[in-house]
Amino acid sequence: MHRRQFLKSSCNICILGAAGFALPGLTGCSSASSLAVYKTGVVNKRLQVPVNLFSSSAVQIVRPAGWYYDIAVEKKENNTYKALLMQCTHQSNQLTVTGSGFTCSLHGSQFDKDGNVRKGPAEEALTHYKVYKQNDYLIIEVPTTP
Ligand code: FES
Repeated sequence: MHRRQFLKSSCNICILGAAGFALPGLTGCSSASSLAVYKTGVVNKRLQVPVNLFSSSAVQIVRPAGWYYDIAVEKKENNTYKALLMQCTHQSNQLTVTGSGFTCSLHGSQFDKDGNVRKGPAEEALTHYKVYKQNDYLIIEVPTTP
């Protein structure tokens, strides 16, 4: 694993844990990484994510194969789902999850859980992807690469 990938995954997982997202069996970063990051491939501009992943945590990080950026998927209280690209809209840095949304380590932009800008320099909201449930999977419609 390259240093950049390791840091990216480690930061996301540790911040998730610190933020209080329910991660069963969270005893350290190495054991939590397999629970919190779901890796999958893009097929016909769609990602499939098992719905049962959300039985233990309302937030899942999805890592599409070949992408630099992860997608944060959240199950809302009304049983709908939201998918946000974790790419800062200022200068495209990978974001990290916080308890109340997302933050960018490069210049300090902050976004709320819906992807709206709370603090600049970013001015635009995060990219949303269409997500819907189909049988036991969530289907996330995505471009080939962001
Ligand atoms: S790249 Fe995120 S604030 Fe500048």
